[in-house]
Amino acid sequence: MTQMNQVLVVEDEVVIRSALKRLLERHEYEVSEAGTVKESLEKYDMEDFDVIISDLRLPGAPGTDLIKASSTPVLIMTSYSSIRSAIDSMKMGAVDYIAKPFEHNEIIESVAKVIREHAKSAPKEKPAADEIELPVHGMIGSCPQMMELFRRIRKVALTSSTVLINGESGTGKELVVRAIHNLSNRLDKKMISVNCAAIPENLIESELFGHEKGAFTGATSTRTGLVEAAHGSTLFLDEIGELPLHAQARLLRVLQESEIRKVGSVQSTKVDVRLVAATHRNLKQLVADGEFREDLFYRINVMTLLIPPLRDRGNDILELADVILQRTCKRLKTAQLKYGNDAIRTIAEYRWPGNVRELENAIERAVVLAETTEITEELLAIDGEVAKASPARDATELRPSKPVEELSLEDYFQRFVLEHQDAMNETQLAKKLGISRKCLWERRQRFGIPRKKKH
Ligand SMILES: Nc1ncnc2c1ncn2[C@@H]1O[C@H](COP(=O)(O)OP(=O)(O)OP(=O)(O)O)[C@@H](O)[C@H]1O
Ligand SMILES: [Mg+2]
Repeated sequence: MTQMNQVLVVEDEVVIRSALKRLLERHEYEVSEAGTVKESLEKYDMEDFDVIISDLRLPGAPGTDLIKASSTPVLIMTSYSSIRSAIDSMKMGAVDYIAKPFEHNEIIESVAKVIREHAKSAPKEKPAADEIELPVHGMIGSCPQMMELFRRIRKVALTSSTVLINGESGTGKELVVRAIHNLSNRLDKKMISVNCAAIPENLIESELFGHEKGAFTGATSTRTGLVEAAHGSTLFLDEIGELPLHAQARLLRVLQESEIRKVGSVQSTKVDVRLVAATHRNLKQLVADGEFREDLFYRINVMTLLIPPLRDRGNDILELADVILQRTCKRLKTAQLKYGNDAIRTIAEYRWPGNVRELENAIERAVVLAETTEITEELLAIDGEVAKASPARDATELRPSKPVEELSLEDYFQRFVLEHQDAMNETQLAKKLGISRKCLWERRQRFGIPRKKKH
């Protein structure tokens, strides 16, 4: 039996702290609490925790002081309005940030992800070059396309060339990026990950490239950008298709000249950065539509790794379903469940538009709801008709005439976004919905409502 994961919550507001404690405990974490950095260090050994969740602003030292205190990953919480300081925390080595007010799911997912990834990368195995048929970085798959993908990952990891990863949502793009970084000779330096869709458009250039003091209103001091922070390491630009055109121009210059110029600066600095970019969009199409620079496209399209959708992976689907089921039962501490025949058939036949992530979610839901040791088709609750009939989900067709009382949270979200996205920008939409911009972006992904480009 595995031990419960240990979490330390550092937050001075008692109400938030105890709410968070209860939430985490409901999800089977063992939680310790502290109100300040000082109290944490006096009371506990930081190495005893699997993850530390800390508010940024605390009486006394800031939460980021816990980053250097141990090797335990630190998740920083901060209010949405101070996204800048959140990004700063990431530069200081925080593994992720959570914008307050946070959603329960968001925080549970982040914690689970941090624990999963840190447990995974803890024993750094050295890549054995001759074991080429083995999957990489815990990725499951043995169909020919995935084997080919693993081979390519191993090859490309050893070089410094730019890599573009293309695949539908939930196919494992992020896992592939981590694999590339971990198999490369840059693994000792932390990879810098930037989700281009999650940083407000007006901040993205100075976040990526830094700025000089006085470069624009509010630039009160000189700042180092994330590209420079990735010097000697890997820079992961997720959803590069969402990068605004003006930032694309700057990125192109970095790639061409291996040097970076801060916003408002005339001087450049040499940087050694390995770029890995990912997108679920068709960049060629974006180029044709004038939304992505052609010259940049050719620069980053040096080596493209295409991750096949789950539905094209043959028996991998069932292999994944088995492993995920075992893992989920263990994590949720239930008896070991198994699939009924109807469930197996459904899993094999369904189109899985949300790919591995959707499979993980369906299995988790089924495990939670199961009342016997068998997972039935009903428990998976796959909306077979919708998905099989229309692979490219058209968000505008989603249940248009449901009475208001019956609106689920998802319906509400979809409607709200569709109705207001022309009139509001992402920041305003997120604010109205009471969620972070990052969370808005993730939900758009999950529900298949891509953001409209307005250039
Ligand atoms: N081959 C695989 N084996 C095991 N787990 C996988 C595999 N592929 C993906 N996953 C899991 O599926 C989930 C989604 O993967 P990931 O976040 O890498 O997808 P993504 O392509 O980056 O998605 P998005 O486009 O939504 O950002 C993660 O929990 C990941 O661990
Ligand atoms: Mg991703």
